[in-house]
Amino acid sequence: MTLRTQPATGGPSPILDLAGVTLEVNSLARGVRFYAQVLGLPLQHLDEDRRTARLGVNAAQTLTLWQPVTRQPNEPWLAPLRARGAGHLHLAFQVRPEDLPRCRTLLDAHALPWQEIDLGTPDAPDPTLYFFDPFGHGLELRTVNRHDPRQPHVAVPDHPLTPDPHALPVLGLREAAIAFGDYAAMKERLPRAYGFAFAKEQDDRDFAQFTLGPWPEPDGNGTPRRWLYAWDPQVGLADMLGGDHALLEFYADVPAVAARVQAEGLPCVTDAGRLAVRDPEGHVFVFRPAPQG
Ligand SMILES: [Fe+2]
Repeated sequence: MTLRTQPATGGPSPILDLAGVTLEVNSLARGVRFYAQVLGLPLQHLDEDRRTARLGVNAAQTLTLWQPVTRQPNEPWLAPLRARGAGHLHLAFQVRPEDLPRCRTLLDAHALPWQEIDLGTPDAPDPTLYFFDPFGHGLELRTVNRHDPRQPHVAVPDHPLTPDPHALPVLGLREAAIAFGDYAAMKERLPRAYGFAFAKEQDDRDFAQFTLGPWPEPDGNGTPRRWLYAWDPQVGLADMLGGDHALLEFYADVPAVAARVQAEGLPCVTDAGRLAVRDPEGHVFVFRPAPQG
């Protein structure tokens, strides 16, 4: 009789929520200005030498900007993994449905071209706004039902961190979409090597949805859950590309992820309870202990 290890998809996912995203920018000052003024994200940390800035999205989620510098890593502990900020990431923010009209007005006031797409059905419309930041990252404002029973590990707050009448009232990070050249290998590897909860695949294109929580769930209908979308290289809705060499941070059961990553033999580093892994496609995933739910 041969003993086999537990299949990777057997138990709950050790990945609990989206903690942060890091974007590559060609001007740190311009990036900080855009995300502070247009999205109202407060600057939490600025390192002029390393060319990095961290902004708060809510009490538990962050958006980080990295300006690459020759011969110098932006973050020393991630240098062995050759981490970069994401190029052309698609990123969605959660907003209250009642704030959507104000978001349209604010996008116009900031002179940002935007596009609206209804992701719902005639019975349950789900109007969604898309626009680009100055660096080609594709941003989305998606409404959230904060009273939905499908609650994420990090609760969606009732209000933005720093309410500002001139800034888009975003409440949280909802999703990040990244690209994989080998889609078929990705679909096997993400659940096996990290424990991501595969939820669904699109019928008409290579587009996999992973629920950032213990179990796969249906997407849409205002769900407050967070999501990792993984595509092959394609132009998605509203001309948005999936990110390349993305740097994404997740709340997770770190030892459980570490066991999978070790079994997979992926390059990784640890620091202060965090585990960072370089995916074979060049994305770097950071896993950190989750705050109390
Ligand atoms: Fe999206």
